[in-house]
Amino acid sequence: MTRHYLRLSGYALLAATCLSSHAVVSFTTSSVPALGRRTNSMGGIGMVQLNGASDSELQQKQEQEEESTNEDLWWKNYKMEHAKVAEQSRPDFEILSTTLEQVDNKPLVYLDSAATSQKPKQVIEALDHYYTKLNSNVHRGAHTLSREATAAYEGARDKVQKLIHANSRNEIIFTSGATESINLVVYSYARANLKAGDEILLTEMEHHSNIVPWQMLAETIPGLKLKFVKMDRETGAVDLKEFKSMLNSNTKMVAFQHVSNVAGCVNPVTEMVQMVRAQADAKILLDACQSVPHMPVDVQTLGVDFLAASGHKMCGPTGIGFLWGREDLLNSMPPFQGGGEMIDQVTLEGSTYVPAPGRFEAGTPAIAQAIGLGAAIDYLQQLGMEEIEAYEHEMAEYLVRRMEQVDRVTVLGPKSGTPRAALCAFIVDGVHPSDLSSFLDMEGVAVRAGHHCCQPLHQSLGYSHSARASLYLYNTKEDVDTFIEKLESTIAFLTGLEGEGGQADDDFVPFI
Ligand SMILES: Cc1ncc(COP(=O)(O)O)c(C=O)c1O
Repeated sequence: MTRHYLRLSGYALLAATCLSSHAVVSFTTSSVPALGRRTNSMGGIGMVQLNGASDSELQQKQEQEEESTNEDLWWKNYKMEHAKVAEQSRPDFEILSTTLEQVDNKPLVYLDSAATSQKPKQVIEALDHYYTKLNSNVHRGAHTLSREATAAYEGARDKVQKLIHANSRNEIIFTSGATESINLVVYSYARANLKAGDEILLTEMEHHSNIVPWQMLAETIPGLKLKFVKMDRETGAVDLKEFKSMLNSNTKMVAFQHVSNVAGCVNPVTEMVQMVRAQADAKILLDACQSVPHMPVDVQTLGVDFLAASGHKMCGPTGIGFLWGREDLLNSMPPFQGGGEMIDQVTLEGSTYVPAPGRFEAGTPAIAQAIGLGAAIDYLQQLGMEEIEAYEHEMAEYLVRRMEQVDRVTVLGPKSGTPRAALCAFIVDGVHPSDLSSFLDMEGVAVRAGHHCCQPLHQSLGYSHSARASLYLYNTKEDVDTFIEKLESTIAFLTGLEGEGGQADDDFVPFI
């Protein structure tokens, strides 16, 4: 059953108003900490309980309290061995050192990188360089600018190939993002190869972009079946036993996330691939949107057939992403869209197509964005994907452990102590995620609220929405500390208002 929150609609309305009104922000932001500051109740409660106790009992109790207070303060001494990743990179992200005029000049604490990452100056300069020095269409002209633009655009393809260890540059198709990459597989490969009686295996954790296109396909092929593997409630990752049990000779397509954008779990891809290969003759699509930006990814080792990712989540521009596929497989697939660039010969009777990648890149591509993605890959590689992964691992543990200690908070996905991504979706008992994110926003802290394009997972966990804090290579321990401090004061403030805010309105979700 879906759990309902008491939504403080009056206050949320105030918060929403604040987003567009500086005058109201000034008033409200100064009120929140004053009203909401969380007090450490340890001393007061202890004294009441100790009335009438003997001296030794009193001392014992005090020692216990000190011990537990020190344990609670473990985070003050938490050391990050790879913190130089953020120290080195942060100055490259000008936006992170700006203060938000709209919210009383509070410094920005950006914790929404799973939605989109910030861009370093190197990427912004690459875009600027293209438009000021190279702007021209690609593959079309013999003139200097066109040749140089083509070289830069194709150079970006080489960089993607190296990043994910693809066999050939021809295996990299530029798309507008992971969503288009998945749709390409659905409308080209699956539409041509799947038929009634076949099964597609997905998980309930998938982003809508890896559910809806398959549902749309199933509507056009009666008898095509979609099956969904559940999340293991213990591990917070995909349920491997169920995954194995749902594979059979009818399974023709398996598509799942590498890293969940809600649970933050890292699915054991190679193990899952082995299960598929042993039990089915199916193609495997990996949604690597939340892994490629954060860790080394090697398509040879993973053993999948297709991989989809978005540039804007890995320091690159919006409007660019890629699909990787095995070259022979790509060349066996019909084009996704028709138009210029993807053809070999066109007559009025019919057309023939060039091999991959050209056959899947109809029309003028996103040239500047591809070049920007290339610059982003250079940037990530110069920091080192292993280093980024190691740092985010430390940050993930820190974030989740701290979240687990906040009253009323339930963290979704794996518990602390388990390797996971540096993102944390959570529920606050009695507080609507949208209220929470609106009030945190007034403190300069940007977190996301909603279903994060994962309604089925939320429904399955018994929630309609959650809030989510997601980190990237530029976030620091101090960012997490500020977030936790503001989270605690906001929860205290909002729960102090419980019952005063009006009607429960669980359906109202201003942000998704
Ligand atoms: C796991 C996952 N898959 C797919 C997508 C879709 O990516 P895009 O919107 O860039 O196409 C996202 C975006 O949030 C995601 O997190």
